[in-house]
Amino acid sequence: MKKSLKLILAVVAVSSVAFGQSGDFTVSGIVKTGGQPLEGATASYTSLGKRLSWDISGSTGAFGPTTGIIGAPKSPGSIGMIAHGPLAIEVFDVLGNKVTSFSTVLDKGKYSVEAVSSKLPKSVYLMKITGNGTVSYQTYINTGKAGVGSLATNGASANGVLLAKKLAVVDTVRIGKTGYTPVKVAIQSYTDDIGTVTLTKIDIESEVSALLAKMSNAEIAGQLIQIDCPSSGDITGKFLGTVFGGGTDGPSSGSPTGSGTAAQWAAFNDNFRNIGSGLKSPILTEWDVIHGYGKCKGATVYPHNIGLGCTWDTTVVQKCYRVAGIESRGCGILLGYGPCIAVPQDYRWGRVYEGFSGSPVLTQAMARAAVLGSQTTDLSNPLAYAACVKHFAGDGGSTQGLNPGATTGDEATLESIHLPGYAAAIKAGAASVMSSYSTWNGTNCTQNKALLTDWLKTSQGFDGYVNSDWSATYQFGNDTKLAFQAGLDVPMLGANSDAGQNGKPSVGSVATDMLNSGGTDAARIKDAAARVIRLKYKMDLFHQPLSTNSAVTALVGSQAHRDIAREAVRKSLVLLKTTTGLLPLSKTAKITLVGPHAQDIGMQCGGWTLGWQGLTGNSMPGTTIRQGFESIGGTGNISYSADGNGITGDVAVVCIGEQPYAETAGDIVDGTVPHTMSIPEANLVTQAKASGKPVVCVMITGRPMDISAIMTADAIVAAWLPGTEGGGIAEVLYGNYKFTGKLGMAWPANANSEPTKNGVGTTPRYAYGFGLKADGTQLPAGLYGSGVNP
Ligand code: BGC
Repeated sequence: MKKSLKLILAVVAVSSVAFGQSGDFTVSGIVKTGGQPLEGATASYTSLGKRLSWDISGSTGAFGPTTGIIGAPKSPGSIGMIAHGPLAIEVFDVLGNKVTSFSTVLDKGKYSVEAVSSKLPKSVYLMKITGNGTVSYQTYINTGKAGVGSLATNGASANGVLLAKKLAVVDTVRIGKTGYTPVKVAIQSYTDDIGTVTLTKIDIESEVSALLAKMSNAEIAGQLIQIDCPSSGDITGKFLGTVFGGGTDGPSSGSPTGSGTAAQWAAFNDNFRNIGSGLKSPILTEWDVIHGYGKCKGATVYPHNIGLGCTWDTTVVQKCYRVAGIESRGCGILLGYGPCIAVPQDYRWGRVYEGFSGSPVLTQAMARAAVLGSQTTDLSNPLAYAACVKHFAGDGGSTQGLNPGATTGDEATLESIHLPGYAAAIKAGAASVMSSYSTWNGTNCTQNKALLTDWLKTSQGFDGYVNSDWSATYQFGNDTKLAFQAGLDVPMLGANSDAGQNGKPSVGSVATDMLNSGGTDAARIKDAAARVIRLKYKMDLFHQPLSTNSAVTALVGSQAHRDIAREAVRKSLVLLKTTTGLLPLSKTAKITLVGPHAQDIGMQCGGWTLGWQGLTGNSMPGTTIRQGFESIGGTGNISYSADGNGITGDVAVVCIGEQPYAETAGDIVDGTVPHTMSIPEANLVTQAKASGKPVVCVMITGRPMDISAIMTADAIVAAWLPGTEGGGIAEVLYGNYKFTGKLGMAWPANANSEPTKNGVGTTPRYAYGFGLKADGTQLPAGLYGSGVNP
């Protein structure tokens, strides 16, 4: 029986599946605004005051029929539900991919769905239920834990109903969309058809102005004081608007500093938010999200951007960043510093791997995909974080690749190389931008009005906020007041207090003085604060709970997410050279793996993983290259030699590359120390060749390097910094998947051909876009899949 809810303005003919038992529910209807269906309306379910799941309706504004969960997982890794009538059930992962390892099982007159054989990975799923001429959807979060009171295997009907009541996880549905007043509808009957819900567009600007009008000058200034892991006294006493932490900060002060499990990270961030719970403007928690949330032990770490660029596949990149969105949010992160959309021009720079490509065109496509992946199209999505694209602008063009450095050139170079990525990111909705440490033609980007105000805000219409880089207004001759005046909104303070640094005044005092002085200075500070507050309204933080949803925390490092990262690893591999008939490797071949990189997840991950500069060793859960080979070829066929001695069998696969590094420490300053442009461990290739076996060289590097010394190898693969899922490398070398990766930046002929400027003005060894199939022929040009060109 359908009940009328107060919100029904008109009952529309939307059929709904009525499971007819208490404990299950169906909600359907149409969301309208101004009499018209609202495109992309959203519905999420609330239980015990927490938003549990998320569903995006069709583009017509219909939000259903949407069904709630009525059963619990029968066992870890299975989806359990009961339903009446002949039904067909399909299961999709969060990214819309069909999950095939399911069967429907008749269970005493009811249907249950469970994973076949292998356990269902922890993740969010969408179940499509077709039956009785209707189609409905159910969102399900599998935490991997057996639900309390799971349905008995042969649970009788009464038992099922009882459990369903106990597990009535859904009691409210929230319908809305960023920018619209969300409607919370209590589910009074489990078969309600809500009909038409009319939403009112929120006038975010009025809300922002109204809030600002209620704030004291100290509270307004507080929106702009960004302290590194502040004390509780500072959070409330200085009315902080944001909280952040640097590369070595985090829940663990032990080794490695700044790491922690997902639960520890969630608690760490929730603590800041809860301390600030009495503030007029809720706290935003901000951390570096570089290739997944690498500072979380157990997170899914996909390839650094340099590898993602080589996939030429915006779909897989968007999926990777979706994983980052879910996992970061599970760690309590509301805003992530990333993606880095630098366009590296000089490979001596220690941050080359943070950029997708040496080309602005590929960077644009990837920037868009990364922003859409991390944020989705709706910033109020509780499974997404706000992206902060960085480092604006021209960080990848610094002279000699120094960090921080000086970028010079004509305006056309800036516009054609370094700005297009930002235009694409802003168009995709990027919430925030981080200004670069570097200078553009002598002017610090941190206080560059032409860039921050004229180009970014005025010409591109960017209404988010500009964050500075670490302590930038206290260094390099910058000045906080001049930076504010130029258009910087939030100076990042590389300190645990707002005490002022290098003899310069605190951010709070500068902002308050500017407010007190009135005129354009006061207006500028209010505009900066308004930008921070605007994002919080867009994210719906004024209505969302302060604590991280533990069901989302439980998704960190799930198999479903690792599978996506592994797909990215496979697609990022670029075959630079091969010999006819060598690849793919036979699965029965006797293979000797050579070199420490073959069994080191830390080296696979590179910088920004657990430690700021990265770590060697296997502290991070994942799969090594060697484990990948063993799982396909069998341990009996795989042997290992660290130093290239004792190579036996049919083929040697030599894994060489760089040691982990991050910003500054990774710069090649004088050509030699501590990193070099020449590929390290080249001697292992020479030694392997001396064994007389065919040699496949797999390079783990954060940049294209001088590989003159290893050209004797029979096949060479650039595997970049693949992250935790090293098993993807063996999958391609054995031919389970094809080589599809192509260079996202030109490969230099030798160490002296720096800077390469993506091949312009030099003759690269391999051009931008180069990449071979296993048979040695060149792959087709352009993007793959459903990638949308900007
Ligand atoms: C880096 C940024 C980073 C920030 C916070 C700086 O040193 O340049 O990329 O977001 O630290 O960790």
